[in-house]
Amino acid sequence: MTGRPEVPHISLNDGHSIPQLGFGVWQIDDLKAPEIVGTAIDAGYRLIDTATDYGNEAGVGRTLKGTAVPRNQLHVTTKLWNDSQGYDQTLRAFEASAAKLGLDVIDLYLIHWPCPQRAAYVDTWRAFIELRKQGRVRSIGVSNFTTDNLERIIGDTGVVPAVNQIELHPGFQQRTLREAHERYGIVTEAWSPLGQGRGLADPALKAIADRHGRTQAQVVLRWHIENGFVAIPKSATPARIVENIDVFSFALTKEDHATIAGLDRADGRIGPDPTSFGRERFLRRLVGRFSRSWI
Ligand SMILES: NC(=O)c1ccc[n+]([C@@H]2O[C@H](COP(=O)([O-])OP(=O)(O)OC[C@H]3O[C@@H](n4cnc5c(N)ncnc54)[C@H](OP(=O)(O)O)[C@@H]3O)[C@@H](O)[C@H]2O)c1
Repeated sequence: MTGRPEVPHISLNDGHSIPQLGFGVWQIDDLKAPEIVGTAIDAGYRLIDTATDYGNEAGVGRTLKGTAVPRNQLHVTTKLWNDSQGYDQTLRAFEASAAKLGLDVIDLYLIHWPCPQRAAYVDTWRAFIELRKQGRVRSIGVSNFTTDNLERIIGDTGVVPAVNQIELHPGFQQRTLREAHERYGIVTEAWSPLGQGRGLADPALKAIADRHGRTQAQVVLRWHIENGFVAIPKSATPARIVENIDVFSFALTKEDHATIAGLDRADGRIGPDPTSFGRERFLRRLVGRFSRSWI
């Protein structure tokens, strides 16, 4: 690769924009974050995707403090964890995240999971709207929301999320949900864009990669870019960090797209199902609380 790649930006429905390729930091240890995220910033990544649940907001904050890249060139996402849902809890959790990150303003704040069993995501969304009104966050969005969840918050508040960050990779392409995003003007952001590395050895992907003189990971990331998604691959390996952003000087053919479309699987989900995720932990805590109050 020659020089640092220019990552295109995508317009959001609120007048702001977001880099189309970013760096995901799930499973990066807080203490190692400055070194690894620093490598990513040096390689040209300007979008960093963290979350309260990842336990590394402070490490990301130390990286941001130490970098020579100006704040206005960096785009920082964090996410509200499930046990902080609810209006007041959300406002408090936001302050804690902002303090750890060392930022007054966060570029994109996401509700991490809908957790429908808590029946709190609409109130949480109202708090997000308030945070945006106060200028503490530039853009507000959601993650792992189904079409029903999206329609509920839009119907109840009139505010459309800028982004829905969902599991999305060639093995799990989420076409129906993406159609809903298009109807409402919501940007699709892909988590686990490489399918956590599973499926990269697929012979069809290998054939495409060989033809372009690229790696399978680069082909998959290029597929995300050409589909208009935002992708946030994670790697703790310096060579892969550089490899994953070097996807702006080749293009897939129509045939490549048709081949990758054929890799979609109805049972291709790797992560949890958003319609039930969080239920077990939530029920355990509820039972715990009641049993304590009975004693
Ligand atoms: N909103 C949500 O609920 C949610 C859920 C999951 C993830 N996310 C976000 O999405 C980000 C990415 O997802 P992810 O970490 O689950 O999966 P991913 O980015 O699809 O894959 C990461 C895995 O692939 C490996 N890898 C990276 N680049 C590679 C390459 N060029 N060749 C071969 N293997 C490669 C990495 O290994 P090494 O690190 O060893 O290089 C790591 O094991 C997360 O970090 C997080 O920010 C959000």
